Amino acid sequence: MKLNIALLAGDGIGPEVINQAVKVSDAVAQKFGHEISWTPALTGAVAIDAVGEPYPDATHDICVKADAVLFGAIGHPRFDNDPTAKVRPEQGLLKMRKKLGLFANVRPTFTFPSLIEKSPLKRERIEGTDLVFLRELTGGIYFGEKGRRDGGETAFDNCVYTRAEVKRLAKKGFELAMTRSKKLCCVDKANVLETSRLWRETVQSMEKEYPEVEVSYEFVDAVAMRLVQWPNSYDVLITENLFGDILTDEASVISGSMGLMPSASVGTNNLLFEPIHGSYPQATGLNIANPLATILSAAMMFEMAFGLKDEAESIRSVVNKSLAEGVVTEDLSEDKKAYKTSEVGDWLATNI
Ligand code: IPM
Ligand code: MN
Repeated sequence: MKLNIALLAGDGIGPEVINQAVKVSDAVAQKFGHEISWTPALTGAVAIDAVGEPYPDATHDICVKADAVLFGAIGHPRFDNDPTAKVRPEQGLLKMRKKLGLFANVRPTFTFPSLIEKSPLKRERIEGTDLVFLRELTGGIYFGEKGRRDGGETAFDNCVYTRAEVKRLAKKGFELAMTRSKKLCCVDKANVLETSRLWRETVQSMEKEYPEVEVSYEFVDAVAMRLVQWPNSYDVLITENLFGDILTDEASVISGSMGLMPSASVGTNNLLFEPIHGSYPQATGLNIANPLATILSAAMMFEMAFGLKDEAESIRSVVNKSLAEGVVTEDLSEDKKAYKTSEVGDWLATNI
């Protein structure tokens, strides 16, 4: 099969981890007889520096034409510490999500048998955790009207959702639940927020279309607590943009390192795959970042964008092997010698 993939390395450790995902994907392509054509494009702070804008039209064109987008990370401290900056790398990410229509962000959380002890949570709490968040990605407070008034003394960010936006995300949630344990949790704050009441009402109205799915409705604050207490009690969770952003960072602790969790962003016509971690600027260029979240995102890409399940499985199994054999970056290594980012990539590609 011919796979046309747009490659957006982005900022910070983005290029280093993306390189490893390319290595591993190329090894998979070679093994299974596929041909991957990678088209690199600029995004983030590097794009601001090159062309003055974090998600240039040229990049958008490349993404639209590709079968899938593989994305590294975006962000640079230079902009974080300057509240007056007019253009920020993160705007590029949001613009990309919006323009590509990537409304559903699929963020799994699972444990690796050989890493159970790495989690700050007790083994008996987390063993067997296998849940998926479906985070709404193109609406809510991220995209509502925002601004200042009263001469800058008052600031506001509006949270807005339409029934149609909730419905298309919830539909994905129900469908995913049907392929798993048929349990769906709608995470909201319906005791306070009107948008949450719309979410709940919409999901409730869809229940009859999926009679086999057992739906629960929980408040986000309670989920934040139960997620680390009893992660095993969840399977598919659907939630709005900001709640999903916060809860998926929290959930990544269960697996033992933020450098491990992949994600897929799904739209009507486009698909994008990216690690859930950020650009980790302190590690830029040091060749120490964990590439596994990006490599596992590439596995999701093989499976979800191309239906290539065996290819995806070959990546997951070699990742498990590397973890079991201690071929890991410094976030996961103790007394053992830590491997460099590129060494982990080389090892995985060779073992594919
Ligand atoms: C994420 C990130 C982004 C978000 C930032 C970088 C804008 O934290 O993908 O979770 O908040 O969505
Ligand atoms: Mn986040």
